Amino acid sequence: MAAQQLQHVFPKASRYDPEWVRRHSMGENVLLNLESLTKDLPLKPGMRVLDLGCGKAISSIFLAKEFGVTVWAVDEAISASDNYARICAAGCQQQVIPLEADARALPFAEEYFDAVIVVDSYTYFGTDEKYLPYICRFLKPEGRIAIADVCFTSEIETLDQVPAFLQQDYQHYWYFIHTISWWRKLWEKTGLVQVEVAQALDGAELVRKQYIQDFEHQHKQDPFAKALSLDKQQFISFFKLIGRRTGKTIYLQDYKAESKK
Ligand SMILES: C[S@@+](CC[C@H](N)C(=O)[O-])C[C@H]1O[C@@H](n2cnc3c(N)ncnc32)[C@H](O)[C@@H]1O
Repeated sequence: MAAQQLQHVFPKASRYDPEWVRRHSMGENVLLNLESLTKDLPLKPGMRVLDLGCGKAISSIFLAKEFGVTVWAVDEAISASDNYARICAAGCQQQVIPLEADARALPFAEEYFDAVIVVDSYTYFGTDEKYLPYICRFLKPEGRIAIADVCFTSEIETLDQVPAFLQQDYQHYWYFIHTISWWRKLWEKTGLVQVEVAQALDGAELVRKQYIQDFEHQHKQDPFAKALSLDKQQFISFFKLIGRRTGKTIYLQDYKAESKK
């Protein structure tokens, strides 16, 4: 892929060593996704950011270096010690705090963060209708929740709508993937956020090409790279969704708490 094209769309991410980014991205190139997302986020030095499902924490390092924010790098499956070693090697130990925790049982105070950022991880837990109300508890008033992930360009309602190239893998890897408008509705119906951005990632085509190229380079089998290379109609894409916390009170349905009343 032309380096100039990448530099033009992703000037910040292009400054990082491509081999380092490739080795530490657990899905698509995490810095391309993140740079696209942060173009629409009002991040300022000193803000507190939760990088949820941070994987190998290079997104957290990027956020600290590029925006001067303090980042809690949270992932349930990646060792906090390994992430800390990477954070120290990047000289970000004063600004990035690594933590192993489940996105559904977070150890933070309410209204603690200015922004919650989730790159290529939200589909693991966020399709649950009750997840947005849960995670919004940790956002300050007016704070942003921002996700970048994979989407479809048209919603699959029934199995006969699954395109031929996805049929073999659909019920393993794809049944929880949705369109941008599906996600927008999921968030808007709660009234807890004002959706500010719901659109394809800038450079979605570059993200796709880079992903296929990275897997070819590593000679690895990957169902996702396979699907992207078979997808001639661009049925699979990448999106960003950003919501600003409204003043609406959060109601989390909790049977145990209700039965004690
Ligand atoms: C595809 S990887 C993406 C990682 C990183 N954001 C990146 O783009 O390289 C998804 C990450 O989500 C994390 N994850 C999945 N479910 C989680 C949960 N319930 N709580 C915290 N992290 C979770 C996984 O451990 C994994 O590191």
